[in-house]
Amino acid sequence: MKSVTLLSAAAVAATVQASPALNARANMESITTSGNAFFKGGSRFYVRGIDYQPGGAAADVDPLADTKVCKPDIEKFKKLGINAIRVYSVDNSLNHDDCMNALADAGIYVMIDANNPKYSINRKDPHPSYNAVYLQSVFATIDAFAKYPNTMAFFSGNEVIHDEKETTLAAKYVKATDRDMRAYIKARGYRKILVGYSAADVTDNRLQTANFFNCGTEEERSDFFAFNDYSWCTSDFVTSGWDQKVKNFTGYGLPIFLSEYGCVTNTRNFREIESLMHSNMTHVYSGGLMYEYSMEPNKFGIVKIKGGDVDGGVDQTGDRQELQPEFNNLASAMKKYPAPTGDGGYSKERKASECPKSDDHWMLDSGALPDMPEKAKQYLEKGAGKGPGLKGDGSQWAADSASTSENGVPTDSTGQTKGSSGSNSQDKSAGVRGQAPYFVSGVVALMTVLGFAL
Ligand SMILES: *[C@@H]1O[C@H](CO)[C@@H](O)[C@H](O)[C@H]1NC(C)=O
Ligand SMILES: *[C@@H]1O[C@H](CO)[C@@H](O)[C@H](O)[C@H]1NC(C)=O
Repeated sequence: MKSVTLLSAAAVAATVQASPALNARANMESITTSGNAFFKGGSRFYVRGIDYQPGGAAADVDPLADTKVCKPDIEKFKKLGINAIRVYSVDNSLNHDDCMNALADAGIYVMIDANNPKYSINRKDPHPSYNAVYLQSVFATIDAFAKYPNTMAFFSGNEVIHDEKETTLAAKYVKATDRDMRAYIKARGYRKILVGYSAADVTDNRLQTANFFNCGTEEERSDFFAFNDYSWCTSDFVTSGWDQKVKNFTGYGLPIFLSEYGCVTNTRNFREIESLMHSNMTHVYSGGLMYEYSMEPNKFGIVKIKGGDVDGGVDQTGDRQELQPEFNNLASAMKKYPAPTGDGGYSKERKASECPKSDDHWMLDSGALPDMPEKAKQYLEKGAGKGPGLKGDGSQWAADSASTSENGVPTDSTGQTKGSSGSNSQDKSAGVRGQAPYFVSGVVALMTVLGFAL
C-alpha cells in the first residue's frame, strides 16, 4: 500500500510540475487555412508578431539554435504579448528543440525562411541557382522544423522580385521552389505546414506577384501570400494608403498578411495594429509582423543587444535593453488592440487567381514553371539528409542542373545586382537580408540601406 501511495504522490508531483509547459504546448495547435484566413482549431488566427534576426544578415546567426540568444528574447516576446515571430536565417545542421519548445511554452508560432544568404535563388541569374544543391538545403530546413507544432509556415523566398523589372523573371523559380517545398512536405508525410512567399514593398508588381503565386494547379499555388510594407509612418488607415491595399486585394483567394511592417521616420505608436485588427482589414488581411526586434544599423529595432554589433555580430548573447518608448508602445498597442472575436468577415472561398500577363512591369507571360531538377527528385523519397548549415559552400553557382542559362548560353558567375537589401536572393556583394527592408517609396531610406550594405 505504502509503495502505491508513494507512487501516486510522485505521479501527482510530476504532473503538477510539468503541467504549465505541457498545457501551453498542447495548446500550440497547428495553424491551418480556410478560405482567405488562418485558423487555429475552429477559431480565426491573426498574426500578431515581430521579425526576429539578431545581428541581421550581416551576422547570419541562427537565433533558434542557442538558448543564450533565444531565451532572453522570449522573455521580451512575452512582455510584448506577441504570438508569432519570423526568423530569416536558420542553420539546418543544428538542433532547435530548446528554443522551439520555449517558444511553444510562451504561445509563440514561428515562421521560417527556408533560404539563407548562401542557399537561395539568385534574382540576377535565377535559372542556374534553382538546382539540387539549393533544394537539398531548403528541404533540410523543412526537416529541421517540421516536427514542431508551433512551426506555422515556411517562406519560399523573401523579396527576390523587386523593383527592377527583370527581377520578375525570377518569380517562376521562386514559385517552383514553393511548389517543391509543398511536394516535399507531402512526400515526407509531415503535417500540412504552410508555404508562401514574402514580397518586397513594390507597388508596380505587388498584385501581379500575388496573382502569380496563386495561379495554376492546386500543387503549384501557395498556401498564403505575404508582403512587406513600409507605408504607415505614424499615420492612419487612409493616409498610409492601406485602405487601397484592402481594396486592391479584396477577393484575393488566399490568406494575406504583412511579413514586415514599420516605419521609423517618426516616433512609433504602432497604431497599425488597430487597423490590422479592425473590420476595415480583417476580411482581407490576417495581421502582420512588426519589423523588427533587434536594433541594427537600419534603426528599426526596439531592443538593443549589447555588443551585438561587434565583430560582425557573431555574439548575440549580450544584455538586452528595451528601447523606449517603442518597446512599451508596441506592448501597449498589442494589449489595446486584441484580435477581434468572431470570424472577421473572412471569405470562405479559397479561389485561384488568373496568371498575370506580361505588361510594363511584369515580364512573364504565363504561369509555366520549370520542372524540379532531376537530381533533387530523390529527396522526395529518401529525404534530404544532413543540411549544409549556414557555412557551407553555397548553392548559387552549383551547376548541377544547369550550367547553361535558359536560352542555352553559359551563365556568368559574376552576376551582381544592386542593393539586395532584405532579400533572400543574395547577390554576392550586398546581402543584408533580415536586416534591411526593401523600399521603393523611401529613396532616402534606400540610400541608407545601400550605404551600410556596401
Ligand atoms: C491598387 O491598384 C491600382 C490599379 O491596379 C494601382 O494603380 C494602385 O497603385 C494600387 N494601389 C496600391 C496601394 O497598391
Ligand atoms: C476604418 O476606415 C474608415 C474609413 O476608411 C476610416 O475613417 C477609419 O479611420 C478606419 N479605422 C481604422 C481603425 O482603421
